[in-house]
Amino acid sequence: MTRTPLIAGNWKMNKTHLEAQALVEDLNDALTDHDFDAVDVAVLPPFVDIRTVQTVLDAAKSSIGLGAQDISQHESGAYTGEVSAAMLKALNVTFAAIGHSERRQYHGEDEAITNAKVKAALGAGITPILCVGEPLEVRQAGTHVQHTLDQVRGGLEGLSGDQVADTVIAYEPVWAIGTGEVATPEDAQEVCGAIRGLLSDLHGDDVASRVRVLYGGSVKSSNVADIMAKDDIDGALVGGASLKADEFAALAGNA
Ligand code: G3H
Repeated sequence: MTRTPLIAGNWKMNKTHLEAQALVEDLNDALTDHDFDAVDVAVLPPFVDIRTVQTVLDAAKSSIGLGAQDISQHESGAYTGEVSAAMLKALNVTFAAIGHSERRQYHGEDEAITNAKVKAALGAGITPILCVGEPLEVRQAGTHVQHTLDQVRGGLEGLSGDQVADTVIAYEPVWAIGTGEVATPEDAQEVCGAIRGLLSDLHGDDVASRVRVLYGGSVKSSNVADIMAKDDIDGALVGGASLKADEFAALAGNA
């Protein structure tokens, strides 16, 4: 099965709506010659910027995909501060990052919550990008593969094979996020390959071969090609390098 690679830019808590407008306009211009049939590109702005970015993308008839950095597990109602899957869907959001390590670390999100959010996204026709990966102490203890597979198992609990095939999984070792210390392609492949192996055990080879597994953690235009040369790595979830249009476009071009 041929998987179309995905380069997704997670802007995290950066850019006001006016800055977001400028960035997405610049990015759309910088990607004028990009082959979107070969490599999908998406941006994940903060919630308050999504409407602005959607307006720019629609007006430009852009092929850049739109994602959210999180999603509520609840459908609607008295959940102050939450943003529902239906609200995002109405803004043409097609991806939602779920269980990013910063959500796990600062907001106490565990497997039960990520699992509920994955189901909420899929229920609205939004592709979840389930984020998994180990902190430094787990890597040092040598239990990083098991740790990450437990997060995958928990996040996908109760899904059908077709639902799993509709998810994206992003392996992001916490020690590589925002540190400049990118995992070696071999280290990234070890875990991404193990994730695909688990998917195969749980749902069979066909489903496993349809899931896009991304790597995230200090990915730049200069290192993306080496990482993506590995068999089980189908793209990247990019933080810092997605905040500059030229760099992110170059990264997508090198993918
Ligand atoms: O979601 C993106 C990741 O946390 C990676 O961030 O590229 O700044 O290391 P980074």
